[in-house]
Amino acid sequence: MAMYNDPYLKIFTLNSNPELAQEICKHVGVDLGETSVKRFSDGEVQVNIEESIRGCDVYLVQSTSEPANEHLMELLIMIDACKRASAKTINVVIPYYGYARQDRKARSREPITSKLIANLLENAGATRILTLDLHASQIQGFFDIPVDQLLGTPLFASYFKEKKLEDVVIVSPDHGGVVRARQMADRLEAPIAIIDKRRPRPNVAEVMNIVGDIEGKTAIIVDDIIDTAGTLQLAADALVEQGAERVFASCTHPVLSGPAISRIEESKLEELIVTDTISLPKQKQIPQITQLSVGPLMADAIIRVHEQTSVSSLFN
Ligand code: R5P
Repeated sequence: MAMYNDPYLKIFTLNSNPELAQEICKHVGVDLGETSVKRFSDGEVQVNIEESIRGCDVYLVQSTSEPANEHLMELLIMIDACKRASAKTINVVIPYYGYARQDRKARSREPITSKLIANLLENAGATRILTLDLHASQIQGFFDIPVDQLLGTPLFASYFKEKKLEDVVIVSPDHGGVVRARQMADRLEAPIAIIDKRRPRPNVAEVMNIVGDIEGKTAIIVDDIIDTAGTLQLAADALVEQGAERVFASCTHPVLSGPAISRIEESKLEELIVTDTISLPKQKQIPQITQLSVGPLMADAIIRVHEQTSVSSLFN
């Protein structure tokens, strides 16, 4: 393996996604830093960094995926450990930023939990956040430290281009996803359609209408998160019922909770493409799901941050 020649660049993983952290290290050309993250017998998190990080630029890889609270707490404690061990910078690499959907007061007396998480990370000592496809871009503004947001669209677009699909239409499953759908449509030179989705209560979706021409076309639904797969199942089935020929979907973050897998299996979806921001246990690795790695992309971004060169040029 070609080694990255800077002993002051250190990458550590916590427990959410060690496979992705390994992949990132492989592409950067460094060994994963030595650390142990365990539990005391009462469940409290115990972190030990097993090598000196004094004066180092440290990158901590951790998605705040399920169990979100456990993974978040591991991360906060690790940041504290790095600060007290005199790291020069503490760069938090959060491939999947959990709690991102609670980004505003949609109803009275609701918290803005994604802002709370930003405060916690920053107060613990994070000096930079590197993340991918935030549910809402305004979350960047919840931090007063730099937030580099990477995009999954180029990765998905290349995959779809290689499939040489014909007569494609890019579909946003709700109004909030139109910008994301437009980015994909631009890359694939395809038109877009929009689903008028209503959510009467959390985790329950209801299709109202499809805006745009989908008749006889290959629809690609573009979303950032697939959680219970309610949105995707409804969208895929509505598209086929209303005349689409084939339906594919790309969702960056495979949360896949509750009934998600059975809903995907029962749906009219031909293939769902996700990334490895959240690792998939064996029982979720079904033939309909293809997982692309964001390891090389995150590794490139880490090198650019470390060498202080442009990150956005990765997407141009
Ligand atoms: C919503 O705004 C998101 O972009 C996703 O559409 C949503 O989180 C997916 O959730 P589920 O799979 O539970 O319908």
